[in-house]
Amino acid sequence: MTDKAIIDARDVDYTLDIAGRPLHILRKVSLRVAPAEVVAIVGPSGSGKTSLLMLLAGLEKASGGQVMVNGRDLGAMNEDELARFRRHTLGIVFQSFHLIPSLTALDNVGLALEIAEPGLSMAQIRDKAAAALAAVGLEGRLDHRPSALSGGEQQRVGLARASVANPPLLLADEPTGNLDQKTGAVVVDLMFDLARRQKTAVVMITHDPALAAKADRVYTMTQGELTENPVAR
Ligand SMILES: Nc1ncnc2c1ncn2[C@@H]1O[C@H](COP(=O)(O)OP(=O)(O)O)[C@@H](O)[C@H]1O
Ligand SMILES: [Mg+2]
Repeated sequence: MTDKAIIDARDVDYTLDIAGRPLHILRKVSLRVAPAEVVAIVGPSGSGKTSLLMLLAGLEKASGGQVMVNGRDLGAMNEDELARFRRHTLGIVFQSFHLIPSLTALDNVGLALEIAEPGLSMAQIRDKAAAALAAVGLEGRLDHRPSALSGGEQQRVGLARASVANPPLLLADEPTGNLDQKTGAVVVDLMFDLARRQKTAVVMITHDPALAAKADRVYTMTQGELTENPVAR
């Protein structure tokens, strides 16, 4: 069973030492996500949602428990292995887009692909990056720099960048946090449609229960404890 999950986090604790005193950020968090499953996490600000995503991305280390992603135990990997793991396994979508301002949409996506798959030719990179942008409806914006794009368009570039190398897992931390509600809903629909087409698993953090309801399953984080919401049927 375990090797079938894209995420299998068990009894994960995350505790920081703040001025000599322990700050318990996550307590016995367990999360199982199947390949191609789309999961949302809601919960108040400061409850530990971003911290959990950082652990799943191998950007922070758990203090206890085990974090398995794509069959790999992240706690047992060194920095080089984690960097390689991130390049091949993950796409990350950020609230504040994090596009490179001096690069066009095409080059923002192309650069991410070049890093994930260094063997590709320039022509292959261009074609795949253009296809990823077309998949999010931006075929007419390839040569635009971020400053010439709306917020929703910038986040669609962010989505194309995260998905261009076809990773098995997308992590999204409040991807609609800088967008109005209508634009946010369009971006989430695009992200989930894309994920379902490419059979990519998604873990999306959101404040918006209406957006969370579009996921297959929803969890709530409360003061570092994660619980699965009952399925409304
Ligand atoms: N590096 C850090 N140093 C100190 N406190 C931190 C650090 N990272 C997170 N925290 C604290 O952990 C708690 C959870 O933070 P976070 O995971 O960002 O929550 P959320 O994403 O749900 O808003 C907050 O109280 C935050 O202040
Ligand atoms: Mg957060």
